[in-house]
Amino acid sequence: MKLKIAVLPGDGIGPEIVTQAMEVVQSVCEKFDHELICKEALVGAVAIDAVGNPYPEETHILCMESNAVLFGAIGSPKYDHDPSASIRPEQGLLAMRKRLGLYANIRPVTTFPSLIHRSPLRTDLVDGADFICLRELTGGLYFGRPQGRSEDGSTAYDTCVYTVEEIERIICLAYQYALKRRKKLTVVDKANILSTSRLWRQVAQQIAKEYPEVETEYLFVDNAAMQIIQCPKRFDVIVTENMFGDILTDEASVIAGSLGLLPSASIGVHTSVFEPIHGSYPQAAGKDIANPLATILSSALMFEYAFGLNAEGQLIRDAVQASLSVRIVTEDLAETGKAYKTSEVGRWISDYIRAAKI
Ligand code: IPM
Ligand code: MG
Repeated sequence: MKLKIAVLPGDGIGPEIVTQAMEVVQSVCEKFDHELICKEALVGAVAIDAVGNPYPEETHILCMESNAVLFGAIGSPKYDHDPSASIRPEQGLLAMRKRLGLYANIRPVTTFPSLIHRSPLRTDLVDGADFICLRELTGGLYFGRPQGRSEDGSTAYDTCVYTVEEIERIICLAYQYALKRRKKLTVVDKANILSTSRLWRQVAQQIAKEYPEVETEYLFVDNAAMQIIQCPKRFDVIVTENMFGDILTDEASVIAGSLGLLPSASIGVHTSVFEPIHGSYPQAAGKDIANPLATILSSALMFEYAFGLNAEGQLIRDAVQASLSVRIVTEDLAETGKAYKTSEVGRWISDYIRAAKI
């Protein structure tokens, strides 16, 4: 198969982790005899510095012309510490999500046997936890207008907006996932307070009628935040709006043992994007210490979701499991053992793939 991939390393640790993930992608393509065509483009703070735009037109065109996008991370302290900056790196990520129509962000949360003890949660609570969070990605507070400040600067506002159509498409997708899994859907909202949440619940209740074989439950987001930590195994598919999904999935990464482990797939109208859920970790940039696993696991999702190549995705996951069980891990997972470099972990995994018998 011919795989055209747009590679968007972005900021901070982005380039290092994406280099390792692409090395893994390359090794899988060699193994399975796929033709890999990849091109890099600018996004985020590096794009602002180079061309004054966090999501340049050239980058968008490359994404549109590719079969999949592998994305690193976005964000820079230079902008975080300057709240008055009018152009921000994160706008690049939001523009990409909006323009590619990526309305669904799929974040699987699973545990790794060799890391169970790393979770700050009790082993018996997390062992066997396996759910996916579907985060709506192109609506809500992230995109609602008006947004800004009053003229005298003394008041700021953001607007949360959702249309029936935006809610319907993600709820329907969530049911598709629930049907393929353990047939349980948790709709997370704040319907006791927010009118957008009441619309979510109304739309979800309507669609639920079409899926009698799926058990649907409704949780307020504060309660969901507690239960994800208290009894993660009760969840199968969680669907929620943009901001709640952002927060709950960082929280859920605690179950896996590190934020450096959670991959994601963003799908929708145009080319799908595969990216780790963590940020650009600027303190670690250039030091070759960041955990590349979330990005490598995102590349596994890319093979499966963008190309339907399941054996390829599985081989990457097996290689990651193998690296964890022999403790070839970066410092976030090393405990008292040796901490390996980003590049060493990446190389170990691609060597494992090259040597694998298929
Ligand atoms: C994420 C990140 C982004 C978000 C940031 C970097 C804009 O936290 O993908 O979860 O809030 O969506
Ligand atoms: Mg986030």
